[in-house]
Amino acid sequence: MLKWLLLIALVIFSSCKRNFFAVNDFPPMVWPKDNLFNEEKVAIGGKLFVDPILSINSKISCGTCHVPSLAFTDGKKVSEGLFPLTRSAPSLFNIGFHFKGLFWVGSASTLEKQALITVSSPLEMGLPWIIAEKRINESDVYAKAFKKIYGDIFIDSLKIASVLAQYQRTLLSNNSKFDAVMRGEMNFTPKEKRGWTIFFDADPMLPSAECSHCHVDPLFTDLSFQNNGIHTESELNGSSSEKGRESVTLNPNDRFKFKVPTLRNIAITAPYMHDGRLKSLEEVMNHYNMGGNPGFNVNPNVRSLNLSKQDISDLIAFLHTLTDVKTEE
Ligand code: HEC
Ligand code: HEC
Repeated sequence: MLKWLLLIALVIFSSCKRNFFAVNDFPPMVWPKDNLFNEEKVAIGGKLFVDPILSINSKISCGTCHVPSLAFTDGKKVSEGLFPLTRSAPSLFNIGFHFKGLFWVGSASTLEKQALITVSSPLEMGLPWIIAEKRINESDVYAKAFKKIYGDIFIDSLKIASVLAQYQRTLLSNNSKFDAVMRGEMNFTPKEKRGWTIFFDADPMLPSAECSHCHVDPLFTDLSFQNNGIHTESELNGSSSEKGRESVTLNPNDRFKFKVPTLRNIAITAPYMHDGRLKSLEEVMNHYNMGGNPGFNVNPNVRSLNLSKQDISDLIAFLHTLTDVKTEE
């Protein structure tokens, strides 16, 4: 009897796990109660994402800075909208799982709120919401598409933000060579395997690079905010207008802490770090190998590593296995 109960429980549990878009051991996607998955919302969101209609000069779309073929980054040091920004555009793959805060410093709590901020931000798209709403309600295409979901009512900013958020929750990166190896469908080359071992500190006979303390699989981020030592001590103690996570928490201990970024598709998202200060994966590896700059709140897992040239080149070969295999487009 107990055996049967356990079996039934197991079946129920595993079917729950097969939630929308739950893949490998990804956490299940949590759709907000007031914005549950809806295929039509995703379709409008995808269309709006690349449509400059949401910018004041009708020239900038979300896709201007989040280019799909660059894993939704823009290949620039820092992004430029109506005016230059101070930070680099992060990849939006798997962004629906970022439940500890969006933006490099966690200043928006949901994708819905993030979209509301960006469209009207004077530096980015600069479109007051009252005009955005007017444009969408007066556009034949969008008015018709929204009507199919909501009926014949005014399309307000919240509805527009909610379709953008829906679309972004469907942006998944889970089909890289790494994933195929984990599923037992492919093998690493010996070089990639060695890099994987060093990344995950998986063999006491090989050096440990400590990467996986923060870049935790399957997302390759634990979503926490950390100082990884890229700033010089004088920057850290100086009067820079960039404060990192401190600007949100007002805690001086959070100075220059930034969200641990995903490493999925990292080979195609240069330049690196929140301000694009490092040009290549080689520069990134040099930074970590040297142990970064000292600082009162630098995470102790950023330490001098003593990796050889071979170790670094193998680690980079492993990072290249995190690029998604494109199955469509
Ligand atoms: C002008 C370039 C630009 C445009 C246009 C733009 N973004 Fe971004 N986006 C950025 C930059 C830069 C950041 C990082 C900003 C920060 O953290 O302060 C960012 C961050 C984000 C994030 C948070 C990512 C994370 O890792 O937390 C999301 C989500 C996002 N953008 C979605 C959008 C959507 C949706 C639109 C369109 C409504 C859009 N962006 C338009 C440049 C842009
Ligand atoms: C203490 C946590 C921590 C450890 C350990 C760590 N990282 Fe990071 N990593 C971060 C943070 C935080 C950032 C973003 C910092 C910033 O932009 O200011 C980052 C950024 C990166 C970036 C740039 C990503 C991008 O999109 O710009 C790469 C690549 C990277 N790390 C690789 C590694 C590798 C490889 C290792 C091991 C050698 C490693 N990291 C160890 C926290 C960590």
